[in-house]
Amino acid sequence: MYKQINRRDFLEKLGFGLSSTVLISSCMGNMNMGGSDPVPVSGDTTFKNALKIPETITSPSNMIAQAVQDTVMDGKNAKYIGYRSGLLGPTFRLQKGANFNIKFSNQLAEHTNIHWHGLVIPAEMDGHPDQMVMPNENFNYQFTVNQQAGTNWYHPHPHGLTGKQVTQGLAGFFIVESSEEKALNLPNGSYEVPLVIQDKRFNTDATIKYSPTMMEIMSGYMGDNILVNGTASPYLNVSTRFYRFRVLNGSSARIYNLALSNGANFYVIGADSGMLEKPESVNSLLLASGERVDILVDFTNIALNTEVYLENKTFTGMGTAQGTQAFKVMKFIVNKQETDTFKVPSSLISLAKLSNATKNRSFALTMDMANMSGGMHKINGKIYSATRIDETVAVGSTETWEFDNSTGDEPHPMHIHGVQFQVVSRTGGRNTILPQEKAWKDTVLVAPTEKVKVIVKFEQKGKFVFHCHNLEHEDDGMMLNFEVK
Ligand code: C2O
Ligand code: CU
Ligand code: CU
Repeated sequence: MYKQINRRDFLEKLGFGLSSTVLISSCMGNMNMGGSDPVPVSGDTTFKNALKIPETITSPSNMIAQAVQDTVMDGKNAKYIGYRSGLLGPTFRLQKGANFNIKFSNQLAEHTNIHWHGLVIPAEMDGHPDQMVMPNENFNYQFTVNQQAGTNWYHPHPHGLTGKQVTQGLAGFFIVESSEEKALNLPNGSYEVPLVIQDKRFNTDATIKYSPTMMEIMSGYMGDNILVNGTASPYLNVSTRFYRFRVLNGSSARIYNLALSNGANFYVIGADSGMLEKPESVNSLLLASGERVDILVDFTNIALNTEVYLENKTFTGMGTAQGTQAFKVMKFIVNKQETDTFKVPSSLISLAKLSNATKNRSFALTMDMANMSGGMHKINGKIYSATRIDETVAVGSTETWEFDNSTGDEPHPMHIHGVQFQVVSRTGGRNTILPQEKAWKDTVLVAPTEKVKVIVKFEQKGKFVFHCHNLEHEDDGMMLNFEVK
């Protein structure tokens, strides 16, 4: 059964019971004005752990959020939370048109729920922060998968606890396949690998630490260890052929500038919840929290026993806390000769462009240090209130929504529930629409000084949220409700 959680509950969990004067002075005192990474990546860099691949489920029936045991750090067995026997959840893989029906049980000690990020489904199934599943209770998530092929994901959405629950292990992939996509004969089976990148901090007993300070609520909670699929310092053996990697940034706050250590280009074929019209060759790309990218990597002409890293290159323009350090994410070892006849297709799918918006809404993204009772990250001057509907949208209408970060100094990956959108324009900052944005999206990175406009058609009735997917910003209240009716 669903229960309503009020705002006081999560504010207390965040420690907002303290007087805000004390909070303001303590975070001003610690403010990082320099350009150094607040939490340098310094963990295990031996890349000797085989990449874990969560099991794929094509006919789902039940799922439990629960305490699990896993070996993640330093060979130590420790307690985490997950939806399976280890960290993370299984990969759901369903065909367009399929029926999804699971009995979800909450065996955690606190409330949780599941949000199906990227899926356009009825509001009652969306995992809105109102719709909580209390400890020892169940909820049936049931919906029809009615959208194009794409790389979606799922995670809990309990307001004030999302950052903690995701960081501690609750997240998984939800892949939608279609016959249109199948016809492209892209690399599949063991040549198609979902990769969720997450940065984490560990306690000495190898459990995951999640305790953001006021400073970390401002910039986001970053980890000093980079994990892929819940594997620290991972490697994957690959053959001399093309691979398809579906990459999800499942981190709380960290943005990655992904590149290959051999300097090779790779091909973007999909983003968030859909595919591009044609592959785009890139040398690197930025991926913010909540975003996904579907890429083809060519290992065909690489000599046996070569090691190639997926790495993060430094970048600028995303505030002082992001992009200052280069590091490796994972290692590919080319260790098997294979003959591959795959050719990168010249076109992928047809993408109907949305047009004729009948209304524009503009959302100012700000950080308000002077008046932060209950949260400092605001949208149009407001922090989240469960009982307030901030925007009302007519069902069936097409609108443009503009996220305005022109006065900000922090990046905000903005995400809208219950819809998919197309990026129409970005002005200021990077001033362009990027290759990984030319598809159906649900999350878009709005850098400091930028205004990003998206076009959206609202087809699902009911109450949804939109928010910053920096999970500390979100938990701090950078989220509003909208109702489609
Ligand atoms: Cu993945 Cu409301 O978020
Ligand atoms: Cu979502
Ligand atoms: Cu944000």
